[in-house]
Amino acid sequence: MKILVTGGAGFIGSHLCEKLIKGGHDVLCVDNYFTGTKENIVHLMRNPLFEAMRHDVTFPLYVEVDRIFNLACPASPIHYQFDPVQTTKTSVHGAINMLGLAKRVKARILQASTSEVYGDPEVHPQTEAYWGRVNPIGPRACYDEGKRCAETLFFDYYRQHRLEIKVARIFNTYGPRMLPDDGRVVSNFIVQALRGQDVTIYGDGTQTRSFCYIDDLVDGLLKLMDSPLEMTGPVNLGNPVEFTMRELAELTLRLTGSRSKLVFQPLPQDDPRQRQPDITLARSSLGWAPTVPLEEGLKRTIAYFRPTL
Ligand SMILES: NC(=O)c1ccc[n+]([C@@H]2O[C@H](COP(=O)([O-])OP(=O)(O)OC[C@H]3O[C@@H](n4cnc5c(N)ncnc54)[C@H](O)[C@@H]3O)[C@@H](O)[C@H]2O)c1
Repeated sequence: MKILVTGGAGFIGSHLCEKLIKGGHDVLCVDNYFTGTKENIVHLMRNPLFEAMRHDVTFPLYVEVDRIFNLACPASPIHYQFDPVQTTKTSVHGAINMLGLAKRVKARILQASTSEVYGDPEVHPQTEAYWGRVNPIGPRACYDEGKRCAETLFFDYYRQHRLEIKVARIFNTYGPRMLPDDGRVVSNFIVQALRGQDVTIYGDGTQTRSFCYIDDLVDGLLKLMDSPLEMTGPVNLGNPVEFTMRELAELTLRLTGSRSKLVFQPLPQDDPRQRQPDITLARSSLGWAPTVPLEEGLKRTIAYFRPTL
């Protein structure tokens, strides 16, 4: 199949392109390189099944494809808050443009949505039925509300135009090719530990997160894309095993062999205290569950960062 991956030069996108090519698909990677890099895809450039195109998804795109993975959007707070108006445009106009393309060429389309649509949740763990608790005017709203609006558009195209849609709500994912300085907690801890700098914990370190290794996530996205027509989602994809920030920091120090100290700083605004996916739906309808334990995934991620620093 001819498959378009928007945001294909990013962290998740580049792993997805790689896996699709291994599966024998013809892959078109579209990216404006805002947070993605050519280094992430340079190893694919000589492959005749791979093609990269510089394009901003806030503008329409005219290509012939069978399937679309819509991943284009900066994902870390540092980057999505850099130009919040552009972030909302990327989510909303990007979704409109890609849905328009899918409608024209009758392609199946998958949206990379996010656990951030749940905001700072009152229910725990979060099931897909939970509508979320998002501050619509806060500094994170450009991302959270942009992604919520993109979901709305996907379901309106589904109801109004009978489009084949899939919506994945992705929870914290980590692995090789994350950016070293984008403020995401796993890369932050690893980079600080490897550089021998203080490891910064926001708050008292008792807030929890769950972390999904990139290979597991990509498998989930592929399974969702291949699922029967009626399986539209939204479906949570993430690892339900929870860790406190303190546990993550201590594990990172142990695996890197670092002597860095833990230091504590105030929590940023609207930072959720707890985030854990309920993946019952993904288990039952996709037969999917994460398989890579945190310690193993961290080892692979540290092995990636060590030489690049
Ligand atoms: N990594 C996670 O933990 C996580 C969690 C939830 C959701 N997601 C979603 O998954 C997708 C990929 O995330 P990621 O972690 O790989 O982030 P990333 O920043 O590495 O990748 C995003 C890619 O989109 C590109 N991009 C941004 N704006 C664009 C535009 N206007 N036009 C074309 N390309 C554009 C960037 O250059 C980058 O290559 C995002 O949509 C993100 O919201 C990621």
